[in-house]
Order: sequence, then structure tokens, then C-alpha cells
Amino acid sequence: MSSAAVSFSARQIALSEAEFRLLQRLFYDQVGIQLPPVKKPLVCGRLAKRLAALQLDSYQQYYKLLVSPQGADELEVAIDLITTHETYFFREPQHFDYLQQKILPQLHGQADLRVWSAASSTGEEAYTLAMLLDQHRSPKAWSVVGTDVSLAVLESARKGLFVEGRGDKIPPHYLKRYCLKGRDRYAGYFLVERELRERVEFRPNNLTSPAPELGLFDVILLRNVLIYFDLPTKQLVLKHVLERLRPGGWLMVGHSESLQGPPMRLEQLAPSIYRKPLR
Ligand SMILES: C[S@@+](CC[C@H](N)C(=O)[O-])C[C@H]1O[C@@H](n2cnc3c(N)ncnc32)[C@H](O)[C@@H]1O
Repeated sequence: MSSAAVSFSARQIALSEAEFRLLQRLFYDQVGIQLPPVKKPLVCGRLAKRLAALQLDSYQQYYKLLVSPQGADELEVAIDLITTHETYFFREPQHFDYLQQKILPQLHGQADLRVWSAASSTGEEAYTLAMLLDQHRSPKAWSVVGTDVSLAVLESARKGLFVEGRGDKIPPHYLKRYCLKGRDRYAGYFLVERELRERVEFRPNNLTSPAPELGLFDVILLRNVLIYFDLPTKQLVLKHVLERLRPGGWLMVGHSESLQGPPMRLEQLAPSIYRKPLR
């Protein structure tokens, strides 16, 4: 490595209050996420490498790029860096137990079943649903759609390739049935088997916009994303999500997320499980 490259990557560029406010507003407008002042070091830390890669001298220059027509691709990169993608297989397992024990029996007579993993991140939630539906719903028809605002996580989700440790929470019989252990250059990884992968569709979606193109779902998981929104955005997102839930359908949110003041009448069935009235 040349000495110039060393000094370049070591350069620390300060993020001023005014620049932070510009970025706060931009990410709020784009994806609805709130970046309170405590997140300033995080924003700085996550975006610094982009300034270095693009050889920019200030966050002001980076902001100008993001809002310019030529900056559309970089905006995708920035959104991916700013959003938090933490997820894992069988996260909050009570939801999957509820789906299996309470919802599936009620939908047994229904010809098709559609489930939406909204804000799916790298796909663990959507594949968890697919494993469960394949076990407990097949051969009757079902499908899973996973969506996220970050194109990078969707690309990764579509591959269905995970580092072995990510499979820790997958029950052994599911692991054996649906996950292929990687060999040679894939040693240390597992791949969700093709048949299951093909039944899960990953599509881009920004929850702050209506999404009629997704159609209607019987069950929607909207978990661990509402926490990043302020109340007006939360209500807007819920409105859009509930428009995609068929009457009588179920909505599950993360256990730490509350639905105070939902924009629509919902029946609460369990701490984070709701049902849309039939009429
Ligand atoms: C913490 S992950 C949650 C993953 C999964 N639902 C779970 O509970 O494990 C939050 C995801 O929300 C996505 N996200 C943030 N803002 C969004 C928006 N406006 N529209 C759609 N997805 C968004 C992020 O990209 C991230 O992948």
C-alpha cells in the first residue's frame, strides 16, 4: 500500500451540526427514519468510508452528491449504511408458534395463503416463514414476499446464503431439511435449499409509500422497524401496511414495539399480535 493511501484512509473528517441536520432531514424524507443527536457519531462512522472512497473533503459535498440526479446510486448506498439490518432466523419465536398453532388451522380451508415479511432485511424472517409454511401448510398453496428499502439487503436475501453461525436458532429438523452445508469455497456457510428459495420473492419497498402492487396478504410481519420511526411516520407506515392486510388478516409487530393510536380499528389478540376486523 502506498503512503498516500495510508494517510488518506486515516483522515478524519468532522461532521458539523449543520451537515448533520441536512443528513437527518434527507434520511427522514427518504425512508422516514429518525436520527436523534445521539446518532451523530454513528452517522459519521458509517458514512466516513464513503467520503474516503469518493475522495470527498466534507459531508457537505457528500450531501450535495446525494441530492443530485447523479447521486441516485450513492443514495441507495447511504440508505443501506444508515439503516440497521439486525435480524436472525426464528427471532421472537412466539410469533411463529402463533402462526402455526392458531392461524394456520383457521386458514386450512382457504385455497391460497400469502404472508408478507415487511422490512425483511437479509431474509432470515422470510425464510423462517417459508420453512414453517412448507412444514405445516404444504401441499396447500402458500407464498412469502419479503420487502425492504435497502437494495443491498434484498440482493443478499435472494442468495439465501448465510454464515453458519446465523443458523443457530433454526430448529435442527428444519436445518437438516432446508439448509445445505457449504463446501470448498462455501465452507462455513449454508444455503437455503433451492425449492424453498424459489417460493420466497424479495422486492424493494419503502414503507412510507403505499404499495398496491404487492396485493393483499393474510398475515403481515412488521417487526423491529417501527422503532426507527417517529409517531407520524409510524402511523403513515401502519396505514400503508394495513391497506395490504385483507379483512380478518393478522399483523405482528416486534415485542418492543407498541401500536399506540393505530390508524385503524385492530383487535389485539396477544401482546404484539393484532387482527384486522372483517368489516
Ligand atoms: C432491524 S431490521 C428488521 C428485520 C426483521 N423484520 C426482523 O425483525 O428481524 C429493520 C429493517 O427495516 C428496513 N427499513 C428501514 N426503513 C424502512 C422503510 N422506510 N421501508 C422499508 N424498510 C425499511 C431496514 O433496511 C432494515 O433492513
